[in-house]
Amino acid sequence: MTTAEISALQAEALAEIAAAAAPDAVEALRVKYLGAKNGLLPAMMKGLRDVPPAEKPAFGQALNALRSAVSDALAARKDAVAAEAAPREAFDFSLPGNWRPVGSIHPVSEVIEETTRIFAQLGFTVADGPDIETEFNNFDALNTAKHHPSRDARDTFWLDPERLLRTQTSSVQIREMLAHKPPVRIICPGRCYRRDTTDATHAANFHQIEGLYVDVVPVSLADLKSTLAHFAREMMGPSVQVRFRPHFFPFTEPSVEVDFSCHVCKGKGCAVCKQSGWIEVAGAGIVDTRVYEKVGYDRECYGYAFGMGVERIAMIKHGVTDLRLLYANDLRYLREFL
Ligand code: DAH
Repeated sequence: MTTAEISALQAEALAEIAAAAAPDAVEALRVKYLGAKNGLLPAMMKGLRDVPPAEKPAFGQALNALRSAVSDALAARKDAVAAEAAPREAFDFSLPGNWRPVGSIHPVSEVIEETTRIFAQLGFTVADGPDIETEFNNFDALNTAKHHPSRDARDTFWLDPERLLRTQTSSVQIREMLAHKPPVRIICPGRCYRRDTTDATHAANFHQIEGLYVDVVPVSLADLKSTLAHFAREMMGPSVQVRFRPHFFPFTEPSVEVDFSCHVCKGKGCAVCKQSGWIEVAGAGIVDTRVYEKVGYDRECYGYAFGMGVERIAMIKHGVTDLRLLYANDLRYLREFL
């Protein structure tokens, strides 16, 4: 055996090892070349005995180099074959996960959705109307006097002499009664617009939920009160109190303002309820017969109506003291409602 033959053998062995495709094949080559019993290299090591002493060192070196080249190649190939055989979509549990921010429902939308759910259980369906209204639907048909201050351009956004941004969802009552004969039982959530200077409790753009129930059988103020009390308990919890205070609206007679006991301080007095223990949440009343006349209903109909402030309810539900926080689009704030 010459050193040239040894390097030829090394080239052959390395080629064979590189071609081994499975763990078994790698193991078979290990046995072939390095196996203690019949391995080629151990046999060649033994053959060193017969080499003339002068050539021994060179031969010994060449054989050692061959052995380490073969065993390194076997070890590397063994790892590579094992890695190829491993399942492809092996899951690495140590990697950080894909984090997606979770959104939440805005408190104003939440109040609207919850109110819709509660009134749906009482047989109310949801009606809709446009933000741009006629003077007739927003004022005239609601029995609002021609000289009433709410019509003033300092209070109402007029688009032209007949059209305006609705100041109240009550306009949808008119649309509904013009389109349907009684019985009518609707709620209408929507945006309203007034030339109000923005402060902690006022905004030029806010939301109301209108309610209207008109029937040909008697409907009383007591029905209105029990309906709103039921709504209050569903919305705020069983301990909430509801009170009616006499008021005036052109489209109801009698008219009331509706207060809920303050959810934040449970009626003791706090910043949210301005120390009064009560928060005004809605206007309401028995529909005025003059409204029935405007929409072509029989004067003998019976009905109640109410209009609730959505932001008001959201504020007491969540203890918000400044309405502007609901519209600042500050995620740090809105995330508190997750
Ligand atoms: N539209 C009134 C407002 O904006 C609220 C209201 C009062 C609505 C009495 C009604 C009602 O339907 O009957 O202040």
